[in-house]
Amino acid sequence: MVKRTSKKSSTMAKMADLHVLYQKSVQSSEFEIGFYDERYREIRGKRKMPMVLREDFCGTALFTKDWCESHPKRRAIGVDLCSDTLKWAMENNIKPAGASVAARIDLLNENVITVVTEKVDVICAMNFSFCIFETRELLKSYFANALKGLKDDGLFFCDLMGGTNTIDACEESHEIEGENATYIWEQASYNPIDNHTQCYIHFEFDDGSRIDKAFSYSWRLWTIPELKELLLEAGFKKVQIFWEEFIEDDDPDNDYMEGTGNYRAVTEIAQQESWLAYIVAEA
Ligand SMILES: C[S@@+](CC[C@H](N)C(=O)[O-])C[C@H]1O[C@@H](n2cnc3c(N)ncnc32)[C@H](O)[C@@H]1O
Repeated sequence: MVKRTSKKSSTMAKMADLHVLYQKSVQSSEFEIGFYDERYREIRGKRKMPMVLREDFCGTALFTKDWCESHPKRRAIGVDLCSDTLKWAMENNIKPAGASVAARIDLLNENVITVVTEKVDVICAMNFSFCIFETRELLKSYFANALKGLKDDGLFFCDLMGGTNTIDACEESHEIEGENATYIWEQASYNPIDNHTQCYIHFEFDDGSRIDKAFSYSWRLWTIPELKELLLEAGFKKVQIFWEEFIEDDDPDNDYMEGTGNYRAVTEIAQQESWLAYIVAEA
């Protein structure tokens, strides 16, 4: 993605850097690093932490960088097909983190289905990126390649969105902290015949300018049982689904349930309008 430069008369949309807006809108490394650490200890029963990460579909490699910043001995490999995004990652995330962090990171411009790396403790594929694989064959070959990249006690993490809202056209938005901008997630279409969905991220700015379709995603909306089956078929030994705990809002007139940020393994759960589940597969 090209960084937009500006003249004084430019709109906020023209001056915006899409990658910065994206990162601020959808990524939460601190939570995810804590989640991976907890699951690793819980599942592997070890006191030691996972040290080497591979972030598949790493994009701007913010998470890769944050992982290495979370411990002076942590290393990470980021894999992405888009060389321009990896260049942006290097200039804007990796180099600014300083030489000691940068020295512990490798960015690979490769396909996650075929990439060969050293065996790592954790592989992650976040923000539903694997949904780009729309057939069982492709997704299973991706999972099989992830398994090949894990140590014997490694863990694979991915997330999935779902709920009654996601099987329909819908839109949701939130302000982006410190950017005078609003992030808009649009699910433009959903086809119940093949679960194909077309989604977009748009940005709207306080000066009225807008970036329409800043990012677009042509995905299959996989279901949890399909993912579980494919992970097991690909050779993973066990798959667990982690769900956020909710509490009722204090206001008795409001039946709104508030997310606590705590996730627990579940095998049965009530459907919601919208949910984000974490899937953890054991090598
Ligand atoms: C939705 S972004 C995800 C970025 C980041 N993982 C996150 O959590 O926000 C998807 C990224 O996957 C990359 N990508 C798509 N297909 C890929 C493939 N087969 N192998 C490697 N990267 C791929 C795209 O270039 C893009 O940067």
